Amino acid sequence: MNATVTNDETPLMTKDLAALHTPAPPQEPLLQVRGVTLRYNTPEYLVTATYKVSFDLNRGDRLVLLGPSGCGKSTLLKAIGGHIRPAEGEILLHGKAITRPGTDRGMVFQEFDQLLPWKTALENIVFAIRNTRRTTRAEVVDEAGTLLKKVNLGGFEHSYPHSLSGGMKQRVAIARCLAVHSAIILMDEPFASLDALTRRKMQEDLLALWSESRFTMLFVTHSVEEALTLGSRVIILSSRPGQVSAEFDIDITAHNELSNPVLIRLRERISRILFKDAPEYSI
Ligand SMILES: Nc1ncnc2c1ncn2[C@@H]1O[C@H](COP(=O)(O)OP(=O)(O)OP(=O)(O)O)[C@@H](O)[C@H]1O
Ligand SMILES: [Mg+2]
Repeated sequence: MNATVTNDETPLMTKDLAALHTPAPPQEPLLQVRGVTLRYNTPEYLVTATYKVSFDLNRGDRLVLLGPSGCGKSTLLKAIGGHIRPAEGEILLHGKAITRPGTDRGMVFQEFDQLLPWKTALENIVFAIRNTRRTTRAEVVDEAGTLLKKVNLGGFEHSYPHSLSGGMKQRVAIARCLAVHSAIILMDEPFASLDALTRRKMQEDLLALWSESRFTMLFVTHSVEEALTLGSRVIILSSRPGQVSAEFDIDITAHNELSNPVLIRLRERISRILFKDAPEYSI
């Protein structure tokens, strides 16, 4: 037999075969959303935003939550962010229940005012890093500068938020999540207020950044096209109270090409599900 022999005299071939037959231990999902019902209890009314929603998020996923306006997408992100407690069910991160906000869940919102207005782009990131890690200022400044370049903001380090466009501010917010090594980046329609061209560019750049850094992302949108462009998985929520009505894995090779027949068919299926679920209006 022509097997290579290692120092411990065990032929590699035997070891390789053993590895093939030993099943890999199941990977625990990074985030587990288990039967989560979320309610707002105001003095005037009680609203059930989501009802018994369950899904898992694995490391490196680009999971998109897609659903009609008011179905509880933002509320779900707020609960994962630790800002709202479930009325029913639980949300686990690394197997532990989420009880409060933390930098392990970075947030990027649709609103453009999520940066500290009195700090430059660079200082916004430096500030976030120094809140989470003890390290020298020189190192942090260096790291923040590198991250700004990564999100195509080289040259804007010393600009204040008011002098940046909406898309640029979103880029700083994304860089800030990467800077604090968030386990998950939660994105609530971050590109919805941008013009179509900028939005498309932001989507492309986000995918390029993901290819480089492989972060885990949970992205909320009500655009089918955006979901298909960005997601490696798409979960469809029904209208309020939001419930999971379908889930799709997207063939990674079909990505970025909405004209791909696989995505055209998927788009039709998803649109049918969303349309069927929409409330009926009489004319
Ligand atoms: N702070 C709040 N107090 C009371 N009710 C709220 C509050 N925030 C949201 N709601 C209600 O909860 C439901 C879900 O709202 P949510 O903002 O999560 O929907 P959404 O899916 O993000 O919608 P959109 O796509 O329009 O952003 C809605 O009926 C909304 O009116
Ligand atoms: Mg919302």
